[in-house]
Amino acid sequence: MSRLVIISNRLPVTIQKEEGDLIYHPSAGGLATGLNSLDDSWEKIWIGWPGQEINEAWEREAVRRDLAKDGLYPVFLSKEDISLYYEGFSNKAIWPHFHYFTQYTTYRDKYWDAYKSVNRAFAEAVIPLIRDDDLVWVHDYQLMLLPAMIRKAFPGVSMGFFLHIPFPSYEVFRILPWRKQILEGVLGADQIGFHTFGYMRHFLSAVYRICGYEHHFGMLTVGNRLVNADVFPMGIDYDKYAHPEVEPQEGNGPLKIRELAQKQKLVISIDRLDYSKGIPQRLKAFARFLTNHPGYQGKVTLVMIVVPSRANVSQYKALKEEIDNLVGKINGKYASFDWAPVHYFYRSLDFSELITLYQEADIALITPLRDGMNLVAKEYVASKEESKKGVLILSEMAGASNELTEALIVNPQDRQDIADALLKALEMDPGEQRSRLISMQNKIQKNDVRHWAATFIKEQKKLMESQKAKIARRLSSEDKSALAEAYHSAQSRLLILDYDGTLMPFDKDPQAVVPDEPLLRILEHLRSQEGTKLVISSGRDRTTLQDWLGHLGVDMAAEHGVWVKRNGKWNNNTGLSVSWKEKIRQVLENMVERTPGSFIEEKDYSIAWHYRAIDKALGEKRVREFRDVLLYLTANDDLQVLEGNKVVEIKNAGVNKGKAALNWVGEKNWDFIMAIGDDHTDEDTFKALPEEAYTIKVGLEKSVARYNMLSVEEVRAFLNGLQ
Ligand code: UDP
Ligand code: G6P
Repeated sequence: MSRLVIISNRLPVTIQKEEGDLIYHPSAGGLATGLNSLDDSWEKIWIGWPGQEINEAWEREAVRRDLAKDGLYPVFLSKEDISLYYEGFSNKAIWPHFHYFTQYTTYRDKYWDAYKSVNRAFAEAVIPLIRDDDLVWVHDYQLMLLPAMIRKAFPGVSMGFFLHIPFPSYEVFRILPWRKQILEGVLGADQIGFHTFGYMRHFLSAVYRICGYEHHFGMLTVGNRLVNADVFPMGIDYDKYAHPEVEPQEGNGPLKIRELAQKQKLVISIDRLDYSKGIPQRLKAFARFLTNHPGYQGKVTLVMIVVPSRANVSQYKALKEEIDNLVGKINGKYASFDWAPVHYFYRSLDFSELITLYQEADIALITPLRDGMNLVAKEYVASKEESKKGVLILSEMAGASNELTEALIVNPQDRQDIADALLKALEMDPGEQRSRLISMQNKIQKNDVRHWAATFIKEQKKLMESQKAKIARRLSSEDKSALAEAYHSAQSRLLILDYDGTLMPFDKDPQAVVPDEPLLRILEHLRSQEGTKLVISSGRDRTTLQDWLGHLGVDMAAEHGVWVKRNGKWNNNTGLSVSWKEKIRQVLENMVERTPGSFIEEKDYSIAWHYRAIDKALGEKRVREFRDVLLYLTANDDLQVLEGNKVVEIKNAGVNKGKAALNWVGEKNWDFIMAIGDDHTDEDTFKALPEEAYTIKVGLEKSVARYNMLSVEEVRAFLNGLQ
């Protein structure tokens, strides 16, 4: 069994110093409670911060020893780290920013420097612990640079990253000055998980716009690796809440909760103290409900648990004051001698109190302004396994609302909406409560936390298998030497090379890829070798190819094989018509008018619309809009509509690079044939060649080629080596 190496900022236990003693408490928050529920079915170790500043060497050693018994490895943070990395960059920059509280984002280089150096400290702590076949799993926004750091030390390690908070829209994310470094850090992982499709979509959009990597159904090629972004909504330990194991007489709290529940309709609200949780808005909505429905005064109580969190961050302090004031105001205004509308607790609960509250509550009012997932909502629903009584009111801004669609879904900023939902919940008949709960319970039970982790790990393993398959096709340096040897020992050799994306990198401006000196030298040298026939096979027009490469005296195929240059003479495929071009041009001109930045390229026997310089999604939208017209117009003319990399080309059917290649293949019985290309139009070349030919795809996308290379630089270095 391979080992799971979990790394998160916070360990599942937090140390508190009480009168000089170290006391270990379970950590609060979705990440720690969720991951900690991954029982012993996994062999796991966990690396993280124990939540307390510990400076003395002997004390650190004692903590190390205590934690090691449970497979936990502490990373100690200094006072300054806590202030600049944890409270600073993590919780004054990323947390507010990713939750759309950009007014709270603090841009300070000092915070960023600390973030980098603490991520580095985590890397240094974890690297000595990693074994080759471990699965490394990095968690959350405090450690977004860590994956790339681990990757550098362990290029082949299997590594996942999971973000437990929302990933904001690109328009918000782009504001962060360190956006690129953050994305590059995360992309060090193989698999990147999010709670919802929305977060994943935002991430992929940011990766494309900021780093330039395009994805195919969430799959990206980053250097020599496949990286997959996917959705894994986190679940809870269902049985723990559905069938809790607590002593009935445990503590006074549960008893008092039950007593209260007998007298009152109980509405509960449980969160960490956080502005993202919408606590003041919730209180105001509750007050509005009481005003709108005075008949419920004295009959409904809101039990509000606020768990202390990040108390040194100024916005949290201010929020605490705001909540204290609001509770005071509401209780002052509505209370009677035997009833207080809000029972407010600023502390954490033990499990017996928490579960009793869940079980007794008629309504859970969970209205975060933004929340990555919100596990409290799921725990509440699970706790109703026996009773099947209770209503969940849930914010549409919580990740959980994607799954818990049978909750009463509200806009957390809309007080009236929440007040209406409260009334509806209080008056909902038991049958409806039951049926809503059952369908939510079914989902939560099935997609529990073990299922979440197991799915993530299963997909991670699958991804590593496809990585391996790709890498197996990648030409190693030994393969390259063997290939070079076969090349040199052959008497007659045919080399067919694509141009853009193979010999020259892709550029937004097609005229910017004029062959440079080193490339011309490589081609000149290959061409002049005794027994070698060098062919450049491109989609470009004949005039450009002739201008750029004509002087080398190489053979060429232009316009994907419409024109062929052999022994110094250009010939074209006979019988091709061009009469169709006019009507197609009109359509393409319309596309250009609608899409500034795109342009038409007209060749002798084909015409293309390029959108390399504009937003890819907009280009694709235009293609979709016009595809039907193009297909209709081309239907009777024996034409094909070819969709390439940010280009749509209309050309005569039956002409392709493969057919063109046959001109040279049939010339003689070659000892050695090699073709290199990056685009899907090069697949025709690969297919047309005999089985023993060396076919090489540049990039990791699907291909019929036998081998892969990764980049133009690699192709050039290899061709250089053939000299
Ligand atoms: N929780 C806790 N102590 C408490 C109250 C709640 O540990 O006093 C737990 C709760 O059971 C849940 C987690 O804290 O598992 C909160 O996770 P959630 O996803 O709702 O919010 P987060 O705190 O991660 O933003
Ligand atoms: C959220 C975050 C976690 C964090 C938790 C508690 O759930 O996603 O990464 O651990 O809040 O916050 P804290 O700052 O106390 O670790």
